Amino acid sequence: MCGIVGYVGPAAASSFLLEGLRRLEYRGYDSAGIVTLHDNDLHIRRAVGRIDRLASCIDSRPISGNIGIGHTRWATHGPATQENAHPHVGGDGELAVVHNGVIENFQQLKEDLIARGYVFKSATDTETIGHLIADGLRQSEDAVGRPGIDEDTRYIEAVRGAINQLRGTYGIAVVFRDRPDLMIAARFGSPLVVGIGRGENFIASDASPLAGHTDRIVYLADHQLAIIKANHLSVLHRDQGKVHLDIRPLEAEADAVSLEGYDHYMLKEIYEQPDSVRNAMRGRLDEENATAKFGGLNLTPQQLRGVERIILTGCGTSWHSAMVGEYLIEEFARIPVEVEYASELRYRNPPIDSGTLVFGITQSGETADTLAALREMKRKGHRTLALCNVVASSIAQAADGGVYLHAGPEIGVASTKAYTSQCCVLAMLALYFGRLRHMSFEAGEKFIEDLKKLPGAVQQALSCDVHVREVAAKYKDATNFLYLGRQYNFPTALEGALKLKEISYIHAEGYPAAEMKHGPIALVDEKTPSVFIIPRGTTYEKVMANIEEVKARRGPIIAIACDDDPRIASLADDVIRIPETPEYLQPIVSVVPLQLLSYHVALLRGCDVDKPRNLAKSVTVE
Ligand code: M6R
Repeated sequence: MCGIVGYVGPAAASSFLLEGLRRLEYRGYDSAGIVTLHDNDLHIRRAVGRIDRLASCIDSRPISGNIGIGHTRWATHGPATQENAHPHVGGDGELAVVHNGVIENFQQLKEDLIARGYVFKSATDTETIGHLIADGLRQSEDAVGRPGIDEDTRYIEAVRGAINQLRGTYGIAVVFRDRPDLMIAARFGSPLVVGIGRGENFIASDASPLAGHTDRIVYLADHQLAIIKANHLSVLHRDQGKVHLDIRPLEAEADAVSLEGYDHYMLKEIYEQPDSVRNAMRGRLDEENATAKFGGLNLTPQQLRGVERIILTGCGTSWHSAMVGEYLIEEFARIPVEVEYASELRYRNPPIDSGTLVFGITQSGETADTLAALREMKRKGHRTLALCNVVASSIAQAADGGVYLHAGPEIGVASTKAYTSQCCVLAMLALYFGRLRHMSFEAGEKFIEDLKKLPGAVQQALSCDVHVREVAAKYKDATNFLYLGRQYNFPTALEGALKLKEISYIHAEGYPAAEMKHGPIALVDEKTPSVFIIPRGTTYEKVMANIEEVKARRGPIIAIACDDDPRIASLADDVIRIPETPEYLQPIVSVVPLQLLSYHVALLRGCDVDKPRNLAKSVTVE
């Protein structure tokens, strides 16, 4: 969580910093702040809440300066107050620092610094970093001029000395009151990207703020420090000196993160799904061999045939797509699959056989638990693959190989298009693994035909939008919802409930429809809507019986059902229609009305759809 930006060059730093923070606001929005250097002084502006409030604060008290850093915060240590907003100052104002991550040993460091006279003004762990760097600078005041010690070295060593004392994760950027030409950044566990411009350089937590400013970027790796000036960039390993600059092209368009006429990113991303699903499949369907193909698995067909077990791990929505993956891979490839919450897997010590392949599923590629779980599996010698959206993200880099979703930037905190793309890629993996084993050519051909119809089916599902809005208006004041489905529709029930919870703040529970009578049915009354996901399939009749059970207890029923299902209308209070799709691909279609339902309910309740309270898009802390 938290987003960092930095600029050094000839332009006014504050405009890049503000715009960059807007593009990173999905990483946290409890408070924001920037600092620039001008006339040998640090000029800081901070505001609680969104970037707009920071922008108004800067409008009323403008700041100049050609170097600066900025931060948008998701609070970990200390509430969302102005005092806790970054940037934080080190020493008596010798420097300012912004930080993304969590310093686990900050309390101990803080006590030590206080004992040595440093004064803390916030409850954050970050302020510790600032004082540690200031301490390093003070200790080396007289060192300049000694062999090997120039001005730059002194500042670099102060940062290096500070980060060597930190336990935890950090992406930091630092500017110094007495060095208006110098910015230093460092990372361990939290991402940082340097943008190389002409006579100017940038830093950001991901590449999105850099789009439109440069097309050349360098991803910092763990334990690296970047020394950044307007006409200079060098990267050092914390312990080993200079490293070679791996300059990559930045392909992102600034436009890809604009609303393009939609009121919210979430709505835009829901509507992008016919394309994002198409893009997930682009170039990956091998019709000649009736299978799928993937460029980046880095495993030979022989190695893949040797896989005896698969672990799919992730968090939140990505964990739900893992469940869809479990059903698909077990049915079509006949490989046993286990789905693990990454936050549990990282600390568990389950017996894992050598033939096990571990997939980390993640939109952002930065989720701390998923990253840690994958690293732990890798450490134990298992093959790890990432299924992720953000190119070159930490998880993409940590895994042995993987598959990108190609869904394009997902900005809304509620994951929508990344979910359907994950399910789609998992379906293709099931096909691929199946065809490496026993699946016939004809079955492979049929699978591909079904996949090719998906973008059209998703497009058709979107046509329920107007009706869903009416349904949302009818139920928007309910305080509890149940989401129920069986087999392939059970993960969809979980995902529908999560979507509603996270953006409308209504309590919702997803359950396997038949499990309802083992407890949750006690919640049913005339005020608690039950959303049944009941497209035609093997358990259709069984779920109809579950609907009867809820109906008998006066529970309102919203059904997500196939276009040509006449029976459901007599039972459900409201029916939202979706096109008929083979059962195993239904998750990709039936989730669409549930995304829209949560969107409209949240909107009608006046909630901030794209930036729900207490949440952030990338959960980079444990
Ligand atoms: O980026 P990731 O897919 O790893 O994120 C995992 C979860 O934090 C994420 O899916 C979260 O649950 C979403 N806000 C759900 O909409």
